[in-house]
Amino acid sequence: MEKNIMDYETVALDDEHDALVIIDQTKLPGTTQIISLKTAQEIWDAIYLLKVRGAPAIGVAAAFGIYLLSRQIVTDDFDTFFAEFGRQKAYLDSARPTAVNLSWALKRMEQVCLQNREKPVEEIKALLKKEAVLIKEEDIRVCRAIGEYGLTLVKPGDGILTHCNAGQLATCKYGTATAPIYLGQEKGYGFRVFADETRPLLQGARLTAYELSSAGVDVTLICDNMSGAVMRNGWVNAVFVGCDRVAANGDTANKIGTSVVAAVAKRYNVPVYICAPTSTIDMNTKTGADIKIEERPAEEVTQMWYKERMAPEGIKVFNPAFDVTDHDLIAGIVTEYGIARAPYTESLQEIFAKKANGQKED
Ligand code: MRU
Repeated sequence: MEKNIMDYETVALDDEHDALVIIDQTKLPGTTQIISLKTAQEIWDAIYLLKVRGAPAIGVAAAFGIYLLSRQIVTDDFDTFFAEFGRQKAYLDSARPTAVNLSWALKRMEQVCLQNREKPVEEIKALLKKEAVLIKEEDIRVCRAIGEYGLTLVKPGDGILTHCNAGQLATCKYGTATAPIYLGQEKGYGFRVFADETRPLLQGARLTAYELSSAGVDVTLICDNMSGAVMRNGWVNAVFVGCDRVAANGDTANKIGTSVVAAVAKRYNVPVYICAPTSTIDMNTKTGADIKIEERPAEEVTQMWYKERMAPEGIKVFNPAFDVTDHDLIAGIVTEYGIARAPYTESLQEIFAKKANGQKED
């Protein structure tokens, strides 16, 4: 029987062949191509080109990536090892600036080196593998917990709108914004989902519509400029989206167009929920104004996906990959430790206090 896209691992470690294994998401939904990455350049390119994408998946890929690169460092001396580790870490970290999970995962891996500096380098490498595997396992647990909290915000038969892909393909399982949908699916909730196509890279059309329909969810694909129409029709009870970085005041960077959806949702009294693992909440970033927004090549807007170029030669193009949704447009931030509500400056701190106290996620 042919494999369903949901049966594949988004990110995996092939330790035997010293490789990071991913689904090349730029080829979906037409072709399911599994690729193995070994060099720093291959891993950097895969993240930059969005072969692996979505904040949590980028974090897991970077963790496996830096572990594999650390194995290529030939020395018994910690300082020599750590200097080269730092160089590779900085290189991977430079692939994409907005999703905080990238630097978050790399910092976690760096801590493993620092906390074990007295141990032999070979032992540190084994601990790095352990940490990367843990980051992946945590991602699955965290997404499931977000799904459980998110499910309390909706009821059977509800219409849910989502933007971009914060699905299984953006994580290791369940997704974040899709987790309540998949958990609802397990319980027979019969949600009707609207997936924004998400210009310019079409993550909604190519990935979200694909994975949800493959999982048997009732999903309708709409262009980005149609969310107002479906909300005005009363077809949407809640918006669930993911995020790339949540600031300490709740301002949230997510895929370009999210802020437009949130503004329209406000107009039609539809609550907008940000599904956010704590790994994506950056308490060191005060507000959305402090979030670096990635800008990408003009060709993604003018010609990519089109049979022929669809814009005049030489036209000026602005192509930010993300935008910031102001915290006052957000009804709640769904984390693995519960749902934060305004004022976020306080509620997000409470979420991190729960995390620090080691409270169970769900
Ligand atoms: O540019 P992408 O495809 O990496 O952008 C992805 C998003 O904006 C997602 O919504 C976000 O990373 C959350 S994924 C759980």
